[in-house]
Amino acid sequence: MQLKAPRGTYDILPPDSSKWQYIEGILKETAETFGYREIRTPIFEHTELFERGVGSSTDIVTKEMYTFKDKSLRSLTLRPENTASCVRALIEHSIYSGIMPAKWYYIGPMFRYDRPQTGRYRQFHQFGVEAFGSNSPYLDAEVIILLIEVLKRLGLKEYELHINSVGCMQCRDVYRQKLIEHITPVKDKLCPDCQTRYQQNPLRVLDCKEKSCHQAIVNYPTLSQHLCDDCASHYDVVKKGLKANSIDYRHDDNLVRGLDYYTNTAFEIHIPGIGAQSAVGGGGRYNGLVEDCGGPDLPGIGFAMGIERLLLAVDTLAKELDSGKSDVFITIMNDDYELQALELLTRLRQENIRAEKDYMGRSGRAQMKYADKLGARMVIIIGDDEIQQGYFTLRDMQSKEQVQIDKEEIIESVRDRLAKFRGGNG
Ligand code: HAM
Repeated sequence: MQLKAPRGTYDILPPDSSKWQYIEGILKETAETFGYREIRTPIFEHTELFERGVGSSTDIVTKEMYTFKDKSLRSLTLRPENTASCVRALIEHSIYSGIMPAKWYYIGPMFRYDRPQTGRYRQFHQFGVEAFGSNSPYLDAEVIILLIEVLKRLGLKEYELHINSVGCMQCRDVYRQKLIEHITPVKDKLCPDCQTRYQQNPLRVLDCKEKSCHQAIVNYPTLSQHLCDDCASHYDVVKKGLKANSIDYRHDDNLVRGLDYYTNTAFEIHIPGIGAQSAVGGGGRYNGLVEDCGGPDLPGIGFAMGIERLLLAVDTLAKELDSGKSDVFITIMNDDYELQALELLTRLRQENIRAEKDYMGRSGRAQMKYADKLGARMVIIIGDDEIQQGYFTLRDMQSKEQVQIDKEEIIESVRDRLAKFRGGNG
């Protein structure tokens, strides 16, 4: 049997890995600019963390977790998301007793057992941020502004930001009851999933993917009509914050998110044209989660973006990246000069110049062709004349012009020429 990567997983090979590095660079730089610092948590955690954190009635916990027993028969789970892990780390290291807010970002793999399709994988990657310790609605606005800034820096102009407020525990309880009362008479028309979950979690019916559920509950009471005064004014300030920063949004009564921990602000960002899985990111406030996980009563807010979906959106842009190219290639006209080539290669690389040579015993002509394939801007030729007279021949691969450079000045000369290239080509 030929071994293959498990269904829903894939390899990231060069040159695609350059696109990943490019996107990850922008994500990290943007988060750092906004004052968020990196956190790295384990890939697996105790299963209980996600059951308590994400919610035992959610699709993630009931259907999608990769759970296994280790050799000591402990139940462990590959993290399906990272908010619960961040909360666990915050409590475990008593971060809450330090300076608040604590602002973190992360990039890494997550695991969910779902039916794979374009934009949906079993191992996928998220970039996310979490901010703990403040209930300021201006912080909600900051988090959304950061999300939009990421899209701008990636050159993505076409997006739709949906926002809603799912209220606090108090106003939501009242609302849940009203919604159950509205749904109960039409419960037989719901999809099987919603029929079983509407009593425990009626809000999930609102964001169900099945059309029949939406048709069944038409004219349902909305959460925004039932917010308490505090929640309503919190939501108003968030919207004002977005407006003041010229961020367009759409209030969406159906947006309740698929994880149980949200309170107040909830949001999702969609990019049309990348297929059925158009949600590139989502998040919101989760003011009860730290306490639910055994910590103090500490508010939190954050979001996560799917990097695969971002890549689908920036694909045409990232195709133009040439970060896999070499700056300089060293061609030797004779096997005897292998050592000189290797030594010069090392000196160039120590100067951070992307340098390459041949390792396949190619002829001089074949080496030049290979240099062209690698996209080298310059080739340094080492032949008999060069070695005898103490110079290198430097060939500009675009103009085909060749010059002789003193052996001692080669690094400087290459560096100057590269600086000119970069200055001229951006
Ligand atoms: P989420 O909506 O479950 O939220 O996931 C966030 C993003 O991860 C989605 O919008 C999507 O882009 C990506 N994603 C989710 N599942 C998959 C998949 N199977 N394949 C590819 N991409 C996927 C959370 O995970 C929350 N922890 C976000 C959050 C942080 N809320 C507050 N803080």
